[in-house]
Amino acid sequence: MSEGLSVAGVGKSFGAVEVLKAVSLNVPRGAFHTLLGPSGSGKTTLLKVIAGFTPADAGHVTLAGQDITNTPPEHRNIGVVFQNYALFPHMTVAQNVAFGLRMRGVGKAERAERVEAVLRLVRMTGFGHRKPAALSGGQQQRVALARALVIRPALLLLDEPLSALDRKVRQEVREELKRIQAETHVTTVMVTHDQEEALFLADRVVVLEGGAIRQQGAPAAIYRNPADEFVAGFLGIINLLPVVLEHGKLRLGESVIAPPQGLVLPAAGGSFNLAVRPEEFFVVSAGEGDPSDVLKGQLIVAEFGGPVVTLKVSLAGQVISILALSPDILDAGLTEPGMPLWLRIRAGQLLSVGAGRA
Ligand SMILES: Nc1ncnc2c1ncn2[C@@H]1O[C@H](COP(=O)(O)OP(=O)(O)OP(=O)(O)O)[C@@H](O)[C@H]1O
Ligand SMILES: [Mg+2]
Repeated sequence: MSEGLSVAGVGKSFGAVEVLKAVSLNVPRGAFHTLLGPSGSGKTTLLKVIAGFTPADAGHVTLAGQDITNTPPEHRNIGVVFQNYALFPHMTVAQNVAFGLRMRGVGKAERAERVEAVLRLVRMTGFGHRKPAALSGGQQQRVALARALVIRPALLLLDEPLSALDRKVRQEVREELKRIQAETHVTTVMVTHDQEEALFLADRVVVLEGGAIRQQGAPAAIYRNPADEFVAGFLGIINLLPVVLEHGKLRLGESVIAPPQGLVLPAAGGSFNLAVRPEEFFVVSAGEGDPSDVLKGQLIVAEFGGPVVTLKVSLAGQVISILALSPDILDAGLTEPGMPLWLRIRAGQLLSVGAGRA
């Protein structure tokens, strides 16, 4: 049995609506998983089942080798931080953090020691006497994290803990979160809407949709090898190129190219969608270099975004997005609307066999 968290065949319905459909998930001890999915996909419900706030209709939850399916939440040894799980406003930071220890009957001297240690961990030393209202949003979330960690939980559950913070603070706190998780080795499951956050923080990303797990894997693997169009599109921007496989080559409109390296082709041939991330293209102006194996497109607009430029390119009747480093685009002068471009694909993913339109 797993020493971490194991969710096996968990189902949950509210009335006639099946919100979780036999969800199974293993989070090894010390691992950091992020749970990603659209609104209403069941992320919070899954966390609540794990935490014990919502009873499951079916399945089991096991933590540190113990079946906790029917254990009340206060006996599960799980630390929880919710987006709207506000700190107690009338208590000081130290009292907030000490709360879980008090409930567990930990003596005063040990309480003080552990509160100080955990405030140091979240870099909030010296804030113990303040009230939550006198803290910034980022500081409040650090305190909430300290409050969850002080009980030395076997599992830390985070439900969109950073979503109320503005962009810059959010990035700081997420880096802190990564450091704290690495220092404490606490098994962690975090829900987020933000795909960049999910990829940055986790050693494994789990994509939930309609109450079922669509795909899970290491961030880079799931990003570069999405199982289907839903996962591909949910984890960033993707171009779907409707190609036809003919004599070992891919045809897209008038262009014929060799399949990108590593692409596994359908044995039967035919049409399919080739999924290509915006950053997986090489772009040159038409007529430059080897004319074989290029997709012939036309620049619609080059959108300057500081370090990167997004090119909107018309290709075989559709508009695709290409992302490139600014110097590569600006130095080569690839910015004139209407100019013909040659594109090469570094890597792509075969999706939805039979769904191509070419
Ligand atoms: N107590 C409840 N009673 C009835 N329906 C509920 C209850 N809690 C959640 N639901 C429904 O279950 C579905 C999943 O909700 P859940 O909160 O788990 O989604 P989520 O993935 O966390 O979404 P979000 O990203 O918006 O937070 C939704 O359709 C929601 O309306
Ligand atoms: Mg939610």
